[in-house]
Amino acid sequence: MEKTFLMVKPDGVQRNLIGEIVSRFEKKGFQLVGAKLMQIPTELAEEHYGEHKERPFFGELVDFITSGPVFAMVWQGDNVIATARQMMGATNPKDSAPGTIRGEYAATVGKNIIHGSDSPESAEREIGLFFKGEGLVEYNKDA
Ligand code: CMP
Repeated sequence: MEKTFLMVKPDGVQRNLIGEIVSRFEKKGFQLVGAKLMQIPTELAEEHYGEHKERPFFGELVDFITSGPVFAMVWQGDNVIATARQMMGATNPKDSAPGTIRGEYAATVGKNIIHGSDSPESAEREIGLFFKGEGLVEYNKDA
């Protein structure tokens, strides 16, 4: 079964959106298999966002994601990677459709509420970085 890494960013945690976001994925029918509220160390932030290292906003990105707690999650389900990206909406809130998470709650590209893996390779890498093979629970949600 496909898994993805989703993370409520510090702005989402601060604005009390964890419940709303979890609820959307639960209601869609996906299964939560791992979750933790955590403060990201700088080294982990730099590794997670390594592909953006050369971008002018890299420093800002790392500062922001380490500025307060995040809610890191692993969700499971058919096509969960692509579907979660659709539910999140476009990265830049000026392009994110109404009804999507960013379309409803985000106003700037830096503070865009949620991160989600963009491919199976990213999902595997990000789940490994944040959960290190621990804290994931296998269970039958229909039992
Ligand atoms: P995310 O999906 O977490 O992955 C990379 C992040 O970089 C992206 O969400 C945005 O929040 C952030 N980002 C992209 N472009 C900019 C920008 N121009 N300025 C600040 N942050 C940006």
